[in-house]
Amino acid sequence: MKNIIAITILIILNLTIVSASNDDRNNYYDIVTLGAKPNSKSDSSKALKMAWDMACDSPGQSTINIPEGRFNIRKPLKLDGKGCLSSRIDVIINGTIVAPSDFHVLQDSGTLVLFHDVDGVTVTGGLFDGRGAKLWACKRSGNDDCPRGVTTLAFRNSRNIEINGITSLDSQLYHIVISGSQNVRVQGVTISASGQSPNTDGIHVQSSTDVTILSSDIATGDDCISIGQGTRNLWIQDITCGPGHGISIGSLGKDLHESRVQNVTVITSTFTNTENGVRIKSWGRPSDGSVSNVLFQHLTMENVRNPIIIDQKYCPSHKDCPGDVSGIRVSDVTYEDIHGSSATPIAVKFDCSSKHYCSGIKLHDIHLTHKNKRASAFCSNCEGSTYGVVQPKSCLIEVNN
Ligand SMILES: *[C@@H]1O[C@H](CO)[C@@H](O)[C@H](O)[C@H]1NC(C)=O
Ligand SMILES: *[C@@H]1O[C@H](CO)[C@@H](O)[C@H](O)[C@H]1NC(C)=O
Repeated sequence: MKNIIAITILIILNLTIVSASNDDRNNYYDIVTLGAKPNSKSDSSKALKMAWDMACDSPGQSTINIPEGRFNIRKPLKLDGKGCLSSRIDVIINGTIVAPSDFHVLQDSGTLVLFHDVDGVTVTGGLFDGRGAKLWACKRSGNDDCPRGVTTLAFRNSRNIEINGITSLDSQLYHIVISGSQNVRVQGVTISASGQSPNTDGIHVQSSTDVTILSSDIATGDDCISIGQGTRNLWIQDITCGPGHGISIGSLGKDLHESRVQNVTVITSTFTNTENGVRIKSWGRPSDGSVSNVLFQHLTMENVRNPIIIDQKYCPSHKDCPGDVSGIRVSDVTYEDIHGSSATPIAVKFDCSSKHYCSGIKLHDIHLTHKNKRASAFCSNCEGSTYGVVQPKSCLIEVNN
């Protein structure tokens, strides 16, 4: 009897091992094999969707291959992870994903390539060409009929994501969006668009936790990285930013109820000829959101208009501004080892809410100059403390504990 049980267990174990190794084999789906035609006018979105659906239905690990060549995407592509059997899908891109240059084709359809509800996806290499120039020109001409445009690449409601070494060129709207997601790593990304391209944020993160952005070069017409409400445990390191509007928390206070932004680190990064360096911005509205535990450390500013700025009266168009006092609470923000040059005389600007003063602002080893001379600081409603050399001279309401 004992023997029979032992043998039965062995057989079951054996079966499990065999089926596990079957599941683990690397399923491989090449979009050209599935009908995509590189360097032609034809639309590759169907082949890519088919590759995704097959990978999603395959247990274990799958690879989707996008080989060399230019592949047109003429319909917004939603790659949905709901109900997938896969444990992991690697999307390897050697070619270029191309958006239509005619912005009327996609209009306001959201995102060119959207991953939704996925768990365990990597996207490696390749180029995304958003061909946004015509839409930017339309927006810049003051024409009210221009569509908003589409984001190039987004992950929404997703987990365990890696984006490695991709290049995003000339997006219509945002280049990359990470929203409602956990455990996301972005590394070695290159983002490039004209400094005159409206609303082309490089990487936008919101409602997400444990996001890491490393070793990326971002040149664009809006924020290099923008951080929206509900972001927690965000680590940003080794970024070059410029042209662009800097790395921004906000804008916050668009809605009356917003989730907190907590624990954000921006470290060892360089800003060149940008509008801002590190910025926190909120509209003048009585919203209930907050920003706390932020560290800006080891940053170099080269000819940056506002190297350090908190702006709680944010209203870029200066038209129809809400004009109220900001309800967003800003606390425990540390600026440490920030040096270089300001393109304007005011290198440090803290314009905080008169309802909730900014508090726990720490300035530690700051050395910013304007035209090789002393720069100045502006403070309104801002409490904090200084350590080491702080140049320009601090104007914080000193609260030393
Ligand atoms: C395709 O891209 C991958 C990942 O970036 C890279 O390792 C591989 O060498 C590339 N293959 C070709 C043929 O370029
Ligand atoms: C803050 O975020 C970092 C990752 O960016 C994480 O390692 C750390 O544990 C977080 N701290 C807290 C107190 O949650």
